[in-house]
Amino acid sequence: MFSENFIWGVASSAYQIEGRDQADGAGACVWDAYCEQGKSYDGADATITCDHMHRYKEDFALMRQLGVKHYRFSISWARLMPEGIGRVNEQAVAMYRDMITEMKKNGITPYITLFHWEYPQALQDQGGWLNEHSPEWFAEYAAVVAENFSDLCEYFFTLNEPQCFTGLGHLSGAHAPGYKLPLQYTFQIVHNVLKAHGMAVLALREHAKHPIKIGYAPTCGVALPATDDPRDVEAAKKVYFGFYSDLDNWTWNVSWFSDPVFLGHYPEEGLKKFAPYLPKITEADMELIAQPIDFMGQNVYNGYLVRAGADGEPEFVKRAPGYAKTACGWPVTPECLYWGPKFLYERYGMPLFITENGMSCHDMVSADGCVHDPNRIEFLDRYLGQVQRALDDGVDLRGYFEWTFLDNFEWEKGYNERFGMVYVDFQTQKRIVKDSAYWYQKVMETNGAILSCNRP
Ligand code: FCB
Repeated sequence: MFSENFIWGVASSAYQIEGRDQADGAGACVWDAYCEQGKSYDGADATITCDHMHRYKEDFALMRQLGVKHYRFSISWARLMPEGIGRVNEQAVAMYRDMITEMKKNGITPYITLFHWEYPQALQDQGGWLNEHSPEWFAEYAAVVAENFSDLCEYFFTLNEPQCFTGLGHLSGAHAPGYKLPLQYTFQIVHNVLKAHGMAVLALREHAKHPIKIGYAPTCGVALPATDDPRDVEAAKKVYFGFYSDLDNWTWNVSWFSDPVFLGHYPEEGLKKFAPYLPKITEADMELIAQPIDFMGQNVYNGYLVRAGADGEPEFVKRAPGYAKTACGWPVTPECLYWGPKFLYERYGMPLFITENGMSCHDMVSADGCVHDPNRIEFLDRYLGQVQRALDDGVDLRGYFEWTFLDNFEWEKGYNERFGMVYVDFQTQKRIVKDSAYWYQKVMETNGAILSCNRP
């Protein structure tokens, strides 16, 4: 069952909802350049998106009406520090301070993500994450965040989905900055990113005005055992923490990104497989990366099936024909919220938060003026049922943040995907609460009692 203190929340990120204002003093980030090159679906950009920077008061009032008490959002690095380092944009400080104050007035606890991909273009022009100084740059930004907001906020996450902004951003080129770099560069980038995490933890703690709590929010598809047979469970675990992806997809793994942070070393299997491409890794680096933190976040959307073959080695199982999918084609696999947290807790023993989970639907406004999204209710009901199952199994799962509050700019997919609890008409900026938001409100109010798994 969900404990009385279980944290029910929603998540968002700055770039996807804030929009820009000619007078805002923000610097450009790598996604601006990406959009200017027309790379996002239908030539979309985030100049306006949800115009949250001018509408957050109404948005937080709506959150309050919908019973949201915990909100994970990001500060845009490029907005706060237009050149990435050095000068601080005081308008951004004022805006985020007002935002957080407004959240709190509405009874909403803030959880700040430091980096949800808003990488300053000015630093990208100096090599970005490949530059050996990139960890220090990030630490400088973390210090500014702590100086300016830690009196108002207790919870911080360093990095959102490092697998994505390193791999999609620098290996496949699907995300900003859109690079397809040679493998050895990508290993250097990831090592720098992990060092940046460690340095940011130190900087946050050093500059915080009050004691704060820090987490990390990586991601990855979850390997799901095809059956409950212990051999299949072992096979799935082996794949989940192992290195079964092709090299040109190597950042899709859990342990390369989480073992250093929580166990203080890179996984042996990866060290062997990646040996020809690795940068210099020192003991001091590993100590830095493994700064003690308070909890582990994990963004979880779906999984894939694995079983033990005749020789005991893992085998990937093809999905059934006609398997359920979300609007953007992601498979619907509720068990990922059971097996993912269970495997992670076994390996890392950290208190866990599901920092993102949700689905895109083909939402539309019906003749009655409402947005009916039964598929999303079904999805969340089944996924949350698996969270409860993990809790019942003793996993120390502290909270769940639904992705996301408002329909928004979905990166390379532009406005083609709607993930929100609240529908946004991007022509008029009108917000329409979807049925699933009212449903989630009841889930939060009843602490999960209305989930179908709890029906007699
Ligand atoms: C995650 C991202 C988030 C959003 C969701 C749908 O990978 O962290 O910004 O794009 O997927």
